[in-house]
Amino acid sequence: MAPSEPMIVFDDVQKRFGHNVVLSDLSFAVEPGEHVCLIGPSGSGKTTILRLLMTLEKVDGGTITVGGQGLSHMERDGKLVPADERHCREVRKRIGMVFQQFNLFPNMTVRGNLTEAPTRVLGLPADEANERAAELLELVGLSDKIDAHPTQLSGGQQQRVAIARALAMRPDVLLLDEVTSALDPELVAGVLSLLKDLGDRTDITFLCVTHEMGFARDFSHRVLMFDSGQVIEDAPPDQLFTEPTHQRTRDFLHAVIDRA
Ligand SMILES: Nc1ncnc2c1ncn2[C@@H]1O[C@H](COP(=O)(O)OP(=O)(O)OP(=O)(O)O)[C@@H](O)[C@H]1O
Ligand SMILES: [Mg+2]
Repeated sequence: MAPSEPMIVFDDVQKRFGHNVVLSDLSFAVEPGEHVCLIGPSGSGKTTILRLLMTLEKVDGGTITVGGQGLSHMERDGKLVPADERHCREVRKRIGMVFQQFNLFPNMTVRGNLTEAPTRVLGLPADEANERAAELLELVGLSDKIDAHPTQLSGGQQQRVAIARALAMRPDVLLLDEVTSALDPELVAGVLSLLKDLGDRTDITFLCVTHEMGFARDFSHRVLMFDSGQVIEDAPPDQLFTEPTHQRTRDFLHAVIDRA
């Protein structure tokens, strides 16, 4: 990857589900180490953007590049062709995701959740994976829960384990999809301050979908307002929240802030 190359590039990306065009010629880029929050109305395609990056969905047009490597395409004999499974897996190793509903492996302990992918996907020896798990649990303040099962944890604790699980893969990019919206209100602040701390202490590139406008303001370097398949406004949080240029952004912010 060239030093000045963006970490994530969407170039004219299209995504349809049947006749429903969710992303239409979507283009944006995220720089290495940048914290970008993605906001926009429900059903507008925010989760779809993250799922495309996780290769859980495939694009119908355009290209996605992560760390200079094609996610949806690769080079073969000097030509761009659709990426194959192996190529996707390699690029995907660089990306971690934390979901709204935690999605921990229910039949594994916290230790198992944190060591499964590093041993199976990265080939890390068990003792190193265990050591990494212990360090990360300390970081998220859950060292005493290493042998617990997910059902024995609160929502906030499960989400902190999910964040530790994503970090166990040492990702360059962390995708967060409304990670506090399934939490009881009193647990939200703890998870958000953990993320803020991570943002301050690491050089991970963050792309976060959030309805927490306070978090977007505190955490992000840049906010993208997304609507009707495209980024309609792209600005630092101070500017976007105080002087949005689009009426659509103003209406959205009023609706979200009134609901809070
Ligand atoms: N697997 C799928 N099959 C068919 N349609 C889908 C699928 N996934 C998403 N969609 C549709 O794509 C559109 C965008 O969905 P998406 O989940 O990306 O929205 P979102 O912006 O994340 O919304 P929310 O804020 O409610 O989470 C919606 O119209 C949804 O119905
Ligand atoms: Mg969503």
